[in-house]
Amino acid sequence: MPDQKIVLITGGNGGIGYATAEALARDPSFHVIIGSRSLQKGQEALSKLSEQKGSVTLVQLDVTDPESVASAVTTVERDYGRLEVLVNNAAIGVAGPSMSAETLRYVFETNVFGVGRMTEAFLPLLRKSSNPRIVHVTSGLGSLTLKASGELSAPYNAYTVSKAALNMMALCHMEQFGDEIKVLVLTPGFVATNLGGDPEGWRKQGAEDPANSGKFIKTVIEGHRDSDRKNMLKEGGTFPW
Ligand SMILES: NC(=O)c1ccc[n+]([C@@H]2O[C@H](COP(=O)([O-])OP(=O)(O)OC[C@H]3O[C@@H](n4cnc5c(N)ncnc54)[C@H](OP(=O)(O)O)[C@@H]3O)[C@@H](O)[C@H]2O)c1
Repeated sequence: MPDQKIVLITGGNGGIGYATAEALARDPSFHVIIGSRSLQKGQEALSKLSEQKGSVTLVQLDVTDPESVASAVTTVERDYGRLEVLVNNAAIGVAGPSMSAETLRYVFETNVFGVGRMTEAFLPLLRKSSNPRIVHVTSGLGSLTLKASGELSAPYNAYTVSKAALNMMALCHMEQFGDEIKVLVLTPGFVATNLGGDPEGWRKQGAEDPANSGKFIKTVIEGHRDSDRKNMLKEGGTFPW
């Protein structure tokens, strides 16, 4: 444990978060903490990963709930005393054009405020690591450049707005933390998960296996894309901001 890199993944019980946990857990240099808002779902994920002999634990974590986040900080501090990598992966998707205040607030609670809350809360533990990093999982849909050029047309307005806001938060984090904490932003690719609630439907539209995203995120965590780290990363390239 002292030599392992401690990685906390929000939304680590399913989809891309789980795939990332699986990719990391196969490598003994990592200890993965699955953050899961549902303890039952988290236990199921933990059992599957433990069967594969991964070094994995579980913490209850709802990024919209300050008490849950504070309690997770206490647990990680007590058990590990530091955090090498925070993966801000948890998000919700809302279909449709609505950008009412209610819809925006609902989506921003998780996709934007949740990321801000997690990052602030875990800063002291990240600062106790000798080489900390924060990985923000965004979406190419949040690219202002692609939207302005007419290349992006997706019926998920509030989600799109939230990811554009996340991108700016990430750029502000990069500026704020400089070389003290490496901040990386990535798009995980189009993969079949519960985002939107219809993984089979996504698969029919060409979505790939989330395992691909997990392997890619592991390479970013390992530092293989650090030379590109002022960019929005995708596998094999970058996305315009
Ligand atoms: N799938 C894609 O093609 C795609 C493309 C671009 C970007 N992304 C991004 O990839 C990331 C992962 O999404 P995914 O595709 O894996 O979706 P997913 O299968 O729906 O997984 C989302 C995860 O976030 C968790 N979550 C949601 N709200 C939460 C909260 N308040 N607190 C803590 N956890 C919460 C979910 O928990 P529950 O299981 O309890 O719901 C789930 O574990 C997101 O940031 C998404 O925007 C995905």
